[in-house]
Amino acid sequence: MSKPTRSVLVDIELRLKNAGVPSPRVDAELLVAFSLGIERNRTGLVREIDDDQYREIEKLVEKRVRRIPLQHILGEQGFRRLVLEVGPGVFIPRPETELLVESTVRYLKDKKQDRNIVIDLCAGSGAIALALATEVGNSDVYAVEKSLEAFSYLTKNVAANQDLMKTVNSKFIALNASILEPITEFEKLNGIVDALVSNPPYIPNKMIPREPEVKNHEPEMALFGGKDGLDFVRVVIKLAQDLLKPGGFIAIEHADVQGSTVEETGVPYLLLESKSFTKVEDRRDLNGLARYTVGIKI
Ligand SMILES: C[S@@+](CC[C@H](N)C(=O)[O-])C[C@H]1O[C@@H](n2cnc3c(N)ncnc32)[C@H](O)[C@@H]1O
Repeated sequence: MSKPTRSVLVDIELRLKNAGVPSPRVDAELLVAFSLGIERNRTGLVREIDDDQYREIEKLVEKRVRRIPLQHILGEQGFRRLVLEVGPGVFIPRPETELLVESTVRYLKDKKQDRNIVIDLCAGSGAIALALATEVGNSDVYAVEKSLEAFSYLTKNVAANQDLMKTVNSKFIALNASILEPITEFEKLNGIVDALVSNPPYIPNKMIPREPEVKNHEPEMALFGGKDGLDFVRVVIKLAQDLLKPGGFIAIEHADVQGSTVEETGVPYLLLESKSFTKVEDRRDLNGLARYTVGIKI
């Protein structure tokens, strides 16, 4: 027997809410839409759901009730203009990071150069690097990622966007390497890079994330950044000192408590302390929280 879509949605929303899912209505609509193979905004146009469809929807809902990330169930995440393949083993790109991309796009476009060299350290699914390669154009974008699992998503996402990058005359160089080791490909880039960006692991080792989606499903390697969370940030700054050209742009994402210019726990503080950057500025996300630091290489 078929069921009215509206009551199915209300029921799923309630179950997701009871399971502590932060956005139960949106998730309910997305799960139903995904099962039916339609856009979320079309769910209101489907009056009834038949038994087979309902069984499929139930399988997905049951996963979400167990707090498996929505993006793992759907297998994708939107980021800027891209739809990226994601799943277990790779960090799910966050909307906050889109702002770091926005600042970098603006910087590079304002420069109006014939060609840009850009580096993304700790690239995960390739979200930042691919957004820059496709939106800015005329760029050589290097993306470094250590995890083999994450790197396999990155290469798939690169392949899916290869045509688009060709159209805008960008080249993507994916490197499966650790930023803690010397990277041979960077030897020729000393002092000539236009922008170096990173959303590195930045959670202090002892801090346990609250949300089950993060705690149980994000790779540990993507989250933890040493005792104070800033181990990778320090390496990113050191690499930027060597690689950026004078006037080059740095952008580093950080936790909301790492935005201080005066305390050692702040990314702006570390950038200023290096004495290699000017115009150091901390920027906020859409919730008004300190989220990323930018600066210009002296
Ligand atoms: C917070 S995630 C960010 C991923 C991506 N930049 C994004 O914004 O969606 C951090 C990433 O750093 C990677 N990572 C951890 N240690 C690394 C290392 N030593 N060298 C390169 N990447 C590393 C993790 O595997 C993970 O993909």
